[in-house]
Amino acid sequence: MKPSSLALPASATALLTAAVFAVATVAQAPQGPQNPAGGPPPPPPPRTYLAPTNLKVLPKNLTGQQVRDIMEQWEGSLGVHCSTCHTPDPNNIGPNGRPQLNFADDSKPEKATARLMYTMTEDINRNYVSRIESSEAPVTCGTCHRGHLGPEPFVIPPDEHDGPRPPQAPPPAGTKPPLPH
Ligand code: HEC
Ligand code: HEC
Repeated sequence: MKPSSLALPASATALLTAAVFAVATVAQAPQGPQNPAGGPPPPPPPRTYLAPTNLKVLPKNLTGQQVRDIMEQWEGSLGVHCSTCHTPDPNNIGPNGRPQLNFADDSKPEKATARLMYTMTEDINRNYVSRIESSEAPVTCGTCHRGHLGPEPFVIPPDEHDGPRPPQAPPPAGTKPPLPH
């Protein structure tokens, strides 16, 4: 708002400016800790996540934050969203007006499959990969899924069916070079 455009007398403009300044100062005051260095205010404290109540395959003593970190890895490894495995709860409407997910609920088949997959992956690492000397690459969801819910079938490139070709001896002088195949 430009006070001059209101065509008020100078005294009224000065009063208005003072009032606006006062309001702005008051509005700023309760805004949490200010950065003493004068830069932007420090970031808000990290969100806290509720402790899990229905873990059947992950270690039961994980904190809410640890479960959250694992879930975000699964989400990324499979290229899906939380709602691929978790059911919305029509009785719990969130601030955006949409039902929140009920993470402890077990009704989606994808959640059951993910439990099986987790157990399988742990088994592969504990009982097989760990036996390979100097193994540094444990199997993760992403090893197979690579950003897809259903792992894509691997198609062998046509040139590599027989493995690498042996180096070809140069043809004797005077012979035609072999046709490329
Ligand atoms: C591929 C399926 C899958 C995806 C995607 C997924 N989850 Fe999960 N989630 C599970 C499974 C399976 C469990 C139960 C693990 C267990 O039984 O130990 C679980 C458990 C949880 C729990 C603990 C619930 C409780 O109280 O026991 C929370 C919280 C959670 N997920 C949040 C999320 C969030 C947030 C996302 C998205 C960032 C997400 N999940 C994405 C499969 C998934
Ligand atoms: C050794 C390879 C491998 C690993 C490791 C693996 N998966 Fe899978 N996963 C598969 C295959 C194969 C399928 C079956 C795909 C199909 O044909 O539908 C599958 C299917 C799934 C499905 C069902 C997909 C659907 O269409 O409903 C989910 C969910 C899933 N995996 C989650 C996970 C999670 C979570 C992890 C890690 C904890 C994981 N997988 C690790 C190979 C793997």
